[in-house]
Amino acid sequence: MSDIVAIDGPAGSGKSTVARAVAAALGWSFLDTGAMYRAVTAEVLRLGLDPADAEAVGAVAASATISTVPRVEINGRDVESVIRGEAVNVAVSTVAANPAVRRAMVTRQRAWAAAQPNGTVVEGRDIATVVFPDARLKVYLTASLDERARRRGDEGAGSVSRRDRADEGRDASPLRQANDAVVLDTTDLSIDQVVEEIVRWLKTPN
Ligand code: DC
Repeated sequence: MSDIVAIDGPAGSGKSTVARAVAAALGWSFLDTGAMYRAVTAEVLRLGLDPADAEAVGAVAASATISTVPRVEINGRDVESVIRGEAVNVAVSTVAANPAVRRAMVTRQRAWAAAQPNGTVVEGRDIATVVFPDARLKVYLTASLDERARRRGDEGAGSVSRRDRADEGRDASPLRQANDAVVLDTTDLSIDQVVEEIVRWLKTPN
């Protein structure tokens, strides 16, 4: 298996920005797994399905073709412009709590990382705990709710905290810190400071 850096944390903790920058610094690939759950949600809404219909939604996830680079696509359709919109924000926690959806996404995430020529920086909610429990480095990013809501702009603190509660409280792979993860509170740190810290951890022999 290729080298993995796993980055988990709640919405707005800086995962995507940091993971992308760490990958660039190392010359590695980057995988935004939240974009995959968002793409499935966009497809479910496009098809007019109820996000809570576990069977129908699980079937969509199991048969979907998804790519996240260079743009987020599902079944050949570019969904980049809808996956950060309100309809997806509202429904994505329900879709992500569906065990069949999670199984389908985890399979794709492992296959994708295994196919990369170098290492991969993967960010999400269950990356260190479920997807890559043997990752070379596990990072758990946090930040205050105010700061996370500020970073999420239009989404608002209410929506961000609702999603946190749904992600932390679900039965299937809830968001939680892996025992062996290093925790970094990014509230008062710049992106560069966070990236430097992670690259330093990676290069420090343990
Ligand atoms: O990181 P994000 O906000 O784009 O993630 C969107 C939703 O997907 C989030 O509410 C939780 C879910 N998610 C998940 O359950 N597991 C992951 N590995 C990544 C995201």
